[in-house]
Amino acid sequence: MTKIKIAPSILSADLSKINEEIKEVEKYADLIHFDIMDGIFVQPVTVDSNFVSKIKTKVPLDVHLMVHEPSDSYIKGFIDAGAYSITIHEETCRDPSKQINFIKKNNVRAAISIKPKTSLEKIKKYLDIVDMVLIMTVEPGYAGQKFISSVMPKVRELRKLKPKLDIEVDGGINPYTALIAFEAGANVFVAGTSIFRQKDRIVAIKEILNSLKMK
Ligand code: DX5
Ligand code: ZN
Repeated sequence: MTKIKIAPSILSADLSKINEEIKEVEKYADLIHFDIMDGIFVQPVTVDSNFVSKIKTKVPLDVHLMVHEPSDSYIKGFIDAGAYSITIHEETCRDPSKQINFIKKNNVRAAISIKPKTSLEKIKKYLDIVDMVLIMTVEPGYAGQKFISSVMPKVRELRKLKPKLDIEVDGGINPYTALIAFEAGANVFVAGTSIFRQKDRIVAIKEILNSLKMK
């Protein structure tokens, strides 16, 4: 069995006091998820490697690059900023193995992501070189969207192919949808709105965990 990991997404946090926001969830977070958007692959522009470099926490930093063809030097910025894992998108890279190998050469965990409409076939050739696969459960770009349950067959197929791989889901995750994704085979759960938009973030994380443990 793969370990269940909770990754609060700071996209829904108050960025003006990000270190305080992270401190609040630190005890129950396995990863802190950073959504990096470039205004090209997705419309919004979010934080950069400089922002990530100022984060003070012992929790590993999970960097999700929604960025068009990220270059080595761009990726290196996040490595130097302290990233624990870096996810690139299949849709944005001409040859994703180039970015994956660069990330791994720098001793950082490498992951590949696909959008809801991208088939699993597109990334099968990378499954032996990545440390994690991120199956998007919403169209990338915005927090607060509805979980797309029709991507679950991809999670199920991937889990069959790779029993020990970390499979991350991102978008619309709450206690109810986390359970759906967990039953399909996901073990890493990114959640923005359902954690940072709640009054008590610890209660919110515990609700997700309880929903998974009740199984
Ligand atoms: C969407 C981002 C997500 C986002 C999730 O493009 O990749 O990480 O923060 O937010 P919620 O949990 O609100 O769907
Ligand atoms: Zn994300």
